[in-house]
Amino acid sequence: MTSSIKVADTQYPIHELLRNRWSARSFSDQSISSYDMNRLLEAASWSFSANNMQPWRYVYAHRHSPRFDDIWNCLAGGNRPWAKNAAALVICLAQTNRNTEKPNVWASHDLGAANMNLILQALSMDIYAHVMGGFDAPKALALSQANPDEWEAVTMLALGYLDAPDQLEEPFRTRELSPRTRKSIVDFAWELS
Ligand SMILES: Cc1cc2nc3c(=O)[nH]c(=O)nc-3n(C[C@H](O)[C@H](O)[C@H](O)COP(=O)(O)O)c2cc1C
Repeated sequence: MTSSIKVADTQYPIHELLRNRWSARSFSDQSISSYDMNRLLEAASWSFSANNMQPWRYVYAHRHSPRFDDIWNCLAGGNRPWAKNAAALVICLAQTNRNTEKPNVWASHDLGAANMNLILQALSMDIYAHVMGGFDAPKALALSQANPDEWEAVTMLALGYLDAPDQLEEPFRTRELSPRTRKSIVDFAWELS
C-alpha cells in the first residue's frame, strides 16, 4: 500500500526508493519474519563506515515478543501511541568510543548511513520505517546491555507494514496525510566560485 501524498515532489528526478520513503506511523498487524529482519540487518551491514569500523549495533524485539514492551517503554510520550503498533522496535547504538582514549567522531554519521541502508532495503520489501530520537537514551542503553563507556543509544526505529491512516488518533492521522516538504537545493548547497 502506497500513499501518493507522501511521494516526494522533486525539482530533479531521483530514485524511486528515495521518492517513496517516508516516516510512517500507521502499521498493520503483519509481522516481519526473522528472515526478512535479517535481510534488513544485512543491508545495514553493507553501509560504509570510517576505517570500516562498523560502529553500529541493533537491539530489537518483534511486537508479539515479551521484550517488545521493554523497548516500547523507552519511548517518549509522543511516540508511544502509534509506535505500539510497529511490527518491530529497534534500538540503534553507535560505538562513539572504541576504547576510552579514542573517540570515534564519525560513529553517529556511520550509524545514520547504516540506518538508511536498512530503511531503503525495508521499503523495497514494503516495510516502512520511522526513525525516532524521542526516547530515554540511558534506559535504552541499559536495556541493550552495551558498555556505556563505549556505546550510545542514538535513535530508535519503528518498522512495519503500512496500514490505513484512519486507525490513528489525532494528531498522528493528520501527519500521516500531510505532504512532505524540503528546503530548496539553493538553501543548503552551493558551488564555490
Ligand atoms: C534523528 C531523528 C529523530 C527523529 N525523531 C522523531 C521522533 O521522536 N518522533 C517522530 O515522530 N519522528 C521523528 N523523526 C522523523 C522526522 O520527523 C522525519 O524524518 C521528518 O519530519 C521528515 O519526514 P519524512 O521522513 O517523512 O521525510 C526523527 C527523524 C530523525 C532522523
